[in-house]
Amino acid sequence: MGIKLLSTGSYLPDRVLSNADLEKMVETSDEWITTRTGIRERRIAAPGQAASDLGYESARLALQRADFPAGKLDAIITATITGDHPFPSTGCLIQNRLGAKNAFALDISAACSGFLYGLTLARGLINSGQAGNVLLVASEVMSRVTDYTDRSTCVLLGDGSGAVLLTADKRDAVLGSFIASDGSFAHLLWAPAGGSRQPASHETVNQHLHYMKMEGQALFKVAVQAMSEAARTALERAGKKPEEIAFIVPHQANLRIIQAVVKSLGVSMDKVYLNIERYGNMSAASVAVGLDEVITRGLVHSGDLVLMFTFGAGLTWAATVLRV
Ligand code: ACO
Repeated sequence: MGIKLLSTGSYLPDRVLSNADLEKMVETSDEWITTRTGIRERRIAAPGQAASDLGYESARLALQRADFPAGKLDAIITATITGDHPFPSTGCLIQNRLGAKNAFALDISAACSGFLYGLTLARGLINSGQAGNVLLVASEVMSRVTDYTDRSTCVLLGDGSGAVLLTADKRDAVLGSFIASDGSFAHLLWAPAGGSRQPASHETVNQHLHYMKMEGQALFKVAVQAMSEAARTALERAGKKPEEIAFIVPHQANLRIIQAVVKSLGVSMDKVYLNIERYGNMSAASVAVGLDEVITRGLVHSGDLVLMFTFGAGLTWAATVLRV
């Protein structure tokens, strides 16, 4: 049994945080941010708006576009590192909002790789007969774990959500995929406090330890190598050459990282979907929103192949060749 992509959805909060806004908050410049990262602006969730709110909106749209009743869902997987609460899962909150009474729900934590990890897990559930219809949601409110006094990270991140509705099918839409982790790099990208290692205290709050910390240069090198290898492996497993791919939807952490990976694959940037300029890095939601946008903007058509690759905290990385 394979999987079929029935529909997609995405949701971006209204508020725009531009590079000019950030110039007033930290010592930075539009020139530095655009040349080093490719980012011009990002979306920020409204006060009180949490990951389940963003996720609900993209999920609702995906169901609506397929005219699919929530009651027919068997599973809801939510990829997030910025869930509403430590528990219960954001997936359960989305299940309740949708009225998806017959679905079991859970979250997965794979940071920026969460959407492609989720796709692999959803496919496994369908392949094993555990679920027939799976809703995969990637939803991140990165602004809540961003230290807006740290110029090396606050310029990079944004909020957003994307969702896909998957169903069982004889023909498999996933032609090839690859997922990997290396926990020895965990401290290159992490939030030191707020978990069981260092629970919230006045001290952790004063020291800004609940925010994302990142070793940017070290990550840059691993990201290029890991995503290039993941993309090549997924293509090999699919039995496809890069020129057979209609569009590439990469994780949108840094334009220079994307360019380096795409160059290593020998593909033209014309085939690469970019929304980093408008949204920055939305962690797990970046690829999910990108996939929704290439489809809804008519850049790919039914039967086309899309290559997605991503990289994030863990470290985790992944790539998938998907027939849309
Ligand atoms: N504005 C102005 N100057 C800045 C800023 C800023 N916003 N941030 C850093 N600088 C300064 C640094 O202090 C440094 O100054 P110095 O030379 O006087 O010490 C200088 O700019 C260069 O800093 P670098 O860190 O070397 O800059 P680099 O070219 O590496 O770009 C960046 C930094 C954009 C973070 C890059 O390293 C990167 O994109 N890394 C990968 C990030 C990534 O992939 N993260 C994983 C995904 S994120 C997730 O999972 C949620």
